Amino acid sequence: MGYKIAIAGATGNVGREMLSVLAERGFPADIVVPLASRRSIGTEVSFGDKTLKVKDLATYDFSDTDICLMSAGGSVSKEWSPRIAAQGCVVIDNSSAWRYDAAVPLIVPEVNADAVTGFRAKNIIANPNCSTAQLVVALKPLHDVATIRRVVVATYQSVSGAGKEAMDELFSQTRAVFVSDPMESRKFTKRIAFNVIPHIDVFMEDGSTKEEWKMMAETKKILDPKIKLTATAVRVPVFVAHSEAVNIEFEKPITAEEARDILREAPGVLVVDKHEDGGYVTPVEAAGEDATYVSRIREDATVENGLSMWVVSDNLRKGAALNAVQIAELLVNRKLIQAKQRAA
Ligand SMILES: NC(=O)c1ccc[n+]([C@@H]2O[C@H](COP(=O)([O-])OP(=O)(O)OC[C@H]3O[C@@H](n4cnc5c(N)ncnc54)[C@H](OP(=O)(O)O)[C@@H]3O)[C@@H](O)[C@H]2O)c1
Repeated sequence: MGYKIAIAGATGNVGREMLSVLAERGFPADIVVPLASRRSIGTEVSFGDKTLKVKDLATYDFSDTDICLMSAGGSVSKEWSPRIAAQGCVVIDNSSAWRYDAAVPLIVPEVNADAVTGFRAKNIIANPNCSTAQLVVALKPLHDVATIRRVVVATYQSVSGAGKEAMDELFSQTRAVFVSDPMESRKFTKRIAFNVIPHIDVFMEDGSTKEEWKMMAETKKILDPKIKLTATAVRVPVFVAHSEAVNIEFEKPITAEEARDILREAPGVLVVDKHEDGGYVTPVEAAGEDATYVSRIREDATVENGLSMWVVSDNLRKGAALNAVQIAELLVNRKLIQAKQRAA
């Protein structure tokens, strides 16, 4: 018997991608149920060649559901994940609501799959922030060989990371520039069309933003608490896929050539690094793909054992939906959950 999977937030950017990824990867699900707010009851979403009708999360009974992939935002998750988990349904959550809870595993399967074993404490597993997921996939194989001491990262994050309304805002502002219409900013603090904004999530007391803090805290939890990380998170007028300029200091010597060879063998990574025009990956090529692409790998001679590189991945896939489905596959492949008995 296959599994029964619910997708909470199925009408959103990440939820729709979750439905695509489940279908593409042939996840062993007998039943897939799309859920969202009451506003979306009856809305149709695609699952492979099927069309499914959205149901209301607030009135849904999870008692015979095995896994809920949750991507309905932090406040919805805080309220609903414990209730869903209490019905014996494992929640894999995309928001930041549970990531820093010591009793909740924060998982990127290529990096710390073994940490998933503690998930029964709360029946909740957290997916990292989109920028962290692609970063740790690229850092882990290098850390294993040369031990990372410090990371300095600047992100170039696409508007899809802020939800479907943010994508609409970039589209309508871009159009407004060309037809000289008045422009409105609702999702972003400043105009995003033909601009960049060095501000994602709320400000912290020390002047950094929560997005920057998340990258530091999550890298420590997933990869190694000893790694020091400082980030500058920037929103750019790109629809899908986040880019990162990453500078790394290692404890042991490592050359650019060694790093390239290590990353070529690493799970989830594709190295595209030719020293010629276009010999690197940009967000347009990474959108819709599963890999974390690494380009522009080079030695940084200004520090001992330093490397710089450029990391690009689809934030809706590895940064969210794909990673969540990979966690579900981990539970199934390691036989950590059994499909519940359901009436025929
Ligand atoms: N986008 C990314 O790159 C990314 C990456 C990692 C994590 N995440 C996280 O994933 C979550 C979803 O992001 P998104 O980009 O998909 O946002 P989105 O496009 O704005 O979609 C939000 C989804 O949540 C649903 N929802 C909102 N309020 C609800 C409620 N009270 N009850 C039930 N469903 C409700 C919406 O349903 P309606 O259509 O009915 O309103 C919609 O399906 C967020 O927590 C986000 O931080 C996003």
